Amino acid sequence: MFFKNKRKPPESALPGHIAIILDGNGRWAKKRGLSRSAGHRKGAETFKKIALYANRIGVKCLSAYAFSTENWKRPEDEVSGLMKLLEEYLDNIGEFEKENVRVIFIGEKKRLSKKLCDKMTEIEEKSAERTGMILAIAINYGGRQEIVSAVRNTAKLSKEGFVSDEQIDEAFFESMLDTGKLPDVDLLIRPGGEKRISNFLLWKISYAEIYFCDTLWPDYTEKDLDEAVLWYSKRNRRFGGV
Ligand code: IPE
Ligand code: IPE
Ligand code: MG
Repeated sequence: MFFKNKRKPPESALPGHIAIILDGNGRWAKKRGLSRSAGHRKGAETFKKIALYANRIGVKCLSAYAFSTENWKRPEDEVSGLMKLLEEYLDNIGEFEKENVRVIFIGEKKRLSKKLCDKMTEIEEKSAERTGMILAIAINYGGRQEIVSAVRNTAKLSKEGFVSDEQIDEAFFESMLDTGKLPDVDLLIRPGGEKRISNFLLWKISYAEIYFCDTLWPDYTEKDLDEAVLWYSKRNRRFGGV
């Protein structure tokens, strides 16, 4: 591992913002004859390990897709299990505090329980002054929903006369997004074998390098992250230039 054997890549080769679609918990559990919720539990443990590792190797921002606006379609018991797991999870993230990780949440709080929302707010407030990696956890997040909500905010400001049509440019619009203050995604990782975006961070991934791997999320290791980062460091990013 980079961290263990000091093969740490130079900072310039390290993605500033890594986004991860945490996928494959259900299949991981099925392979072992376990319940899907056991898969989610294991996936949550894996997430803590990988997030702390990313912070240690110097990643500035990590965003993680934990629950999408489409995941409400799942059976009710799976959804309620996931919500309970999220609550429990947020009660046990002391390591992030110890390692100076700043935790924020993206997504709509509206449909979430008051208990969960209160915990999210408390964590955001408690970690606001931290100077380590920004960890953005996406709960009830959808890229399209985020854009529509930014359009609504923009329309409201326009109607109230706070912004003129000419002032609405990319930078302004971006500032209306939930993820407005985060840097663009440099590296998007999707474990679990599927090759799709599933409505994650649509605006911020415009020029992301996209890395797919077959490892099911609960099995994901620091070595898998190293491999993705090494792959990233070899990309020639042109951003439309030559
Ligand atoms: C990701 O694992 C967790 C969430 C989407 C909440 P999945 O539950 O999607 O696992 P698979 O894709 O069914 O294996
Ligand atoms: C994407 O995984 C959402 C999260 C990881 C939270 P899904 O398992 O929901 O995505 P699809 O349904 O395979 O596209
Ligand atoms: Mg899935």
